[in-house]
Amino acid sequence: MSATPLLELRGIDKSFGPVQVLRDVAFAAYPGEVTALVGDNGAGKSTLVKCISGIHPTDAGQFVFDGRPVSINNPRDASGLGIEVVYQDLALCDNLDIVQNMFLGREKRSGIILDEPTMEQMAAETLAGLSVRTVKSLRQHVSSLSGGQRQTVAIAKAVLWNSKLVILDEPTAALGVAQTAQVLELVRRLADNGLAVVLISHNMNDVFAVSDRIAALYLGQMVAQVKTTDITHAQVVELITAGRTGGIGLATEPANGDNDTPADSTAGGLA
Ligand SMILES: Nc1ncnc2c1ncn2[C@@H]1O[C@H](COP(=O)(O)OP(=O)(O)OP(=O)(O)O)[C@@H](O)[C@H]1O
Ligand SMILES: [Mg+2]
Repeated sequence: MSATPLLELRGIDKSFGPVQVLRDVAFAAYPGEVTALVGDNGAGKSTLVKCISGIHPTDAGQFVFDGRPVSINNPRDASGLGIEVVYQDLALCDNLDIVQNMFLGREKRSGIILDEPTMEQMAAETLAGLSVRTVKSLRQHVSSLSGGQRQTVAIAKAVLWNSKLVILDEPTAALGVAQTAQVLELVRRLADNGLAVVLISHNMNDVFAVSDRIAALYLGQMVAQVKTTDITHAQVVELITAGRTGGIGLATEPANGDNDTPADSTAGGLA
């Protein structure tokens, strides 16, 4: 395990109009590790990812990348640093084939024509490098792929660009058991190849199966970031539902009134 984060965030605030969605968030992602980002619906996970990927400008806070302070003001800044995101909705085009999807908007050209052989070779090498063997033809339309294969293509697309940090927003949410296992294996392999990986998931089995660290967001606050081996399944559930567990997380009950804290949030909801 690496001791130095590839990406570190400090004091991130983000509001949409009067609604503060992230407050004073600290977060770190380490090379060679999978960091699971967990939290209830609306906790702010996707918003945090969109701040990291430059889609949403932050209101306050710092980004440190590879030990240097950086500013991420737009998606180009993020991709320039090697940050790629696989979004919940995948954003693949059904009517295009695998190669076309992987190079969409960043096509290789030879003079004025598209350099299809180079793109096809790079796509093949990327999929092979990830040990993806289930895809029959790179010229298959994405519409003909299974959910797991589509997820694989989206992930391969993200790693094609010399990325250093890959963020996956619920990659297994729509998948069956076998496909979930395949995608999780792929997620693990990305980290084993040296990338820093951030995995958003609501599935505790997935989280414990692949992650090295767990970061828990509760109502827009980062209440814990711990090694997976240092915490139990039940404790993570408690962090997600109550913001604290034992000595970890919020020191006190969250203040009432300024946030839409559910009335039953003290229940703990242990599985
Ligand atoms: N563009 C926006 N404008 C206004 N409010 C927003 C916007 N995007 C997100 N929010 C609000 O921010 C809060 C956090 O949303 P976010 O999508 O980050 O949650 P999440 O943790 O990803 O949830 P889920 O697990 O359901 O995907 C929610 O209350 C949401 O309504
Ligand atoms: Mg989300």
